[in-house]
Formats: sequence, structure tokens, C-alpha cells
Amino acid sequence: MRISIFGMGYVGAVTAACFAQDGHQVVGIDIDPSKLAMLKAGQSPIIEDGLSELIVQAVQSGRLRVTQDGTTAVHETEASLVCVGTPSRRNGSLDTSVVCQVATQIGSALKEKKTPHLVIVRSTMLPGTVNNTIVPLLHGASGKHVDADFDVCFNPEFLREGTSLKDFYNPPFTVVGARQPQVASRVQPLYQRVQAPFLTTTVETAEMIKCTCNTFHALKIAFANEIGNLCKAMNIDSHEVMRIFCSDSKLNISPTYLKPGFAFGGSCLPKDLRALEYQATMLAQALPVIRAILPSNALQIERAVEMVLDTGKRRVGMMGLSFKPGTDDLRESPLVVLAERLLGKGLELKIYDSNVSLAKLIGANKRYIEHEIPHLSRLMVSSLEELFQRTEVIVVGNRAPEFAEALQRYTSDQFTVIDLARIIHNSAQPANYHGICW
Ligand SMILES: NC(=O)c1ccc[n+]([C@@H]2O[C@H](COP(=O)([O-])OP(=O)(O)OC[C@H]3O[C@@H](n4cnc5c(N)ncnc54)[C@H](O)[C@@H]3O)[C@@H](O)[C@H]2O)c1
Repeated sequence: MRISIFGMGYVGAVTAACFAQDGHQVVGIDIDPSKLAMLKAGQSPIIEDGLSELIVQAVQSGRLRVTQDGTTAVHETEASLVCVGTPSRRNGSLDTSVVCQVATQIGSALKEKKTPHLVIVRSTMLPGTVNNTIVPLLHGASGKHVDADFDVCFNPEFLREGTSLKDFYNPPFTVVGARQPQVASRVQPLYQRVQAPFLTTTVETAEMIKCTCNTFHALKIAFANEIGNLCKAMNIDSHEVMRIFCSDSKLNISPTYLKPGFAFGGSCLPKDLRALEYQATMLAQALPVIRAILPSNALQIERAVEMVLDTGKRRVGMMGLSFKPGTDDLRESPLVVLAERLLGKGLELKIYDSNVSLAKLIGANKRYIEHEIPHLSRLMVSSLEELFQRTEVIVVGNRAPEFAEALQRYTSDQFTVIDLARIIHNSAQPANYHGICW
């Protein structure tokens, strides 16, 4: 492909050198004359292992040239990659002014261009920026229409400084967020030599994926450091702890527990988190990330309360009371807290949970139900049919298989469904359906 790359910084220079090495014709654009002079002379403008060698080859082969003239570069190429910086402003917001300048410049160049053009934004930006800011700037400057005269997509970068060449060819994935699926397929030839799954999605999802990845990486580091600090205070080898911790690819380093949904609860997580926090307090360890977990969890319960109240309806049926299906354990169930909060707001509540109903008759939890939550026990009904009668709002608390089936049977506009467990997927959603965080 013939491509122009705006911004010859860490991302742009590496991308330019790698694409040139892969046989593409690359024009690099930057406003910094010293960077351009270095690249012209076959030198790397940044310190990055292996990049100088790649740039010398690319320049000598004629596959990489540089210029300050963005307009000609757009005219001579099929696609433009935007790799300019998006630094923080003093107030923490992301400064997208350089991306906007470049979008205006590309737009002006498109005005005169007769052939189709693809704008691939690689700079990290918040969701919505491409469609709400970049596309209007391209429209305004070009007088042309996106999806007809030119195309736009978002293709986040996952390289890390210091290992960027290796990362460029072995990223976790290549993600292209496109307004139309066929646009993503026009990006694919660029990544033929890249060893990674090629994933396509919407523009906003791709923008959010990049933000989510960086936030998670930061969270992982802060979490590991806090565990390390606590280990050191207890004279425990933190690296041995984390080495064994990371070897668990079922519960720890895995998709488990990474699905947006309702609050956690049960007999272990809240209790053991509190115990660790207490221990940290005794040892004068701050642990701000770990200490934020329980307040965050409590807010998720409040969010569910607000969602029910926002319906303005008063007769509520809860599907599930135990913290997950297949158990009658009600200790620290967030659904118990939710039920109590709703009762406290004066709502009429009915609860169905077959495991808990059974536990009312037999088992170790009979005592707990009778002594700790008799007020909720009295609200339990013995069938889903009974739960649905005269109910205005159904709250789905866990993923018991019978719930999905019953909702499908009763699916109608009869009640509002508030799904805390993602029991219903997009295709089968009834009219008045609300997922807690989707
Ligand atoms: N550095 C990384 O490791 C990394 C990794 C992934 C994503 N990103 C994201 O990629 C983007 C670029 O990051 P970077 O570290 O390469 O930035 P950088 O600051 O190293 O490079 C930006 C380049 O753009 C040039 N520039 C400024 N205005 C210009 C204009 N109008 N026209 C052309 N060039 C112009 C600058 O002179 C500079 O060379 C950012 O959004 C960043 O968040 C960075």
C-alpha cells in the first residue's frame, strides 16, 4: 500500500519503519525539521532497539521518505495514519488539538483528491472522538462525505517503548474500529506480517478497548505493588507469591471475573478483603487500590437500587437471592442487601429463589434464614408464575437457567426487566429491558 504517516514520534517512526520493511511505500510527515533531517539521513529520531537499522534499510530502499508537506503526501497515498501525540492537559483531560489540526490538514488535501482515501487514526483518544470530532473536521475541510468519498477508522496501537519493534510484529491483537465492515478489510493488508488476531468492531468500541487496556495495565501494576508492599511488611517473598498467583490461568489470569455485572458477595470475598485491609492497617500499609474495592462494590448495589427506583414502579419481583445460582448460601449476598434497600424505600417485594426456598425447609441455612432475614423469607414465593403476577419490575439477580427460560416465556411489555446477571443477550431483549452496565 502507499501510506502517509502523520507524526514521526515513537508510534509513527516505528510504524513507518516496519511498514516500509514489509514492502509498503511510506511517506512520513512531521512538523519537527530535526526529526525529518535525521530520518532523511537514515537515522532514528528516537532511541529504540533495532530501529536505526530498519530506518537505514527503509530509506535506502526508497520505501520510506519524509516531508513536511502533508497535502502532497495525502495526494500521493491511499491511506493516512494519524500518529501524533495526545498529551494530558493540566486538568487531566486529553489534548486532542494536534490530532484535530492533522484532521483539518488531511481534510483540506482531500478536497482536491480524486481517488478514494482512508484515514486510519492511531493516536489514543476517548470514545466518540473519531466520530464526533475528527469526522466533522474532515467533512468541513474537504467538503466531502465520510463513507462515500473517504473512509475513517480507528486502529489503536499497543506497542511499548523499549520493545516496540518486537511488539509491533507481535501485538496482543490488531483491532480496527470501522464505521463499515468493508473498511476494516482495507486495513488488513497492512498487517499481513503481524502475528496476531485481526479483530474488527465499531469505532467507539475500538477507542474504548485502548483506554480499557491502558487502565487495566495500570491497575495490574498498582495491585501487584500493593501486594508487594504488604508482603514486604510481613516478610513474605512477594515475587514467589505473584509467580504462583500468575500460574493460575483459571481464576486469576483469565477472563473469569472480568465480565461487567453486579456486585460480588458470598462467604469469602468480602470477609477476606476486610481481613487483609485490617492487617494492612496494623502494618501501616496504605493499599489505596485494594481499599477502593469494597466501596466500589457497594456502589454497584446502589446503582441497582437507583435503576429500580428510576422506573417509578412499586411492585418488584426479584429472581434470585443467593449471590450466585446453584447455592443457598445467603451470607453477604449483595441481592440480600439490594432487597433490604428496596424494602427500605417502601417498595412491594416478592422474591423467588428455588435453592433458598429449599433451604428454608432443610439444611444448614434454615437457621440463617429464620434468624437473620425473616423479613425477606416472608416475601418468598414458590414459583416463577407467582413472581410474575401483578409484578411491574423484574430484577434478574443471577444466571439460574430457569430464569432465562421463564423470561422468554413471559417476554412481553408486561414488566420492566432489570438484568444484573446478563441473562438476556441483545437479540432476545424485551422492550423494557435494562442491563446494569451494558
Ligand atoms: N509512545 C507509546 O508507547 C504509545 C503506545 C501506544 C499508543 N500511543 C499513542 O500514540 C500517539 C502518539 O504517541 P507518541 O508517543 O508516538 O507521540 P510523540 O510525542 O512521540 O510523537 C508525536 C509526533 O507528532 C509530531 N507532530 C506534532 N504536530 C504535528 C503535525 N501537525 N503534523 C505532523 N506531525 C506532528 C511531533 O513533532 C512528534 O514527532 C499518542 O496518542 C499516544 O497516546 C503511544
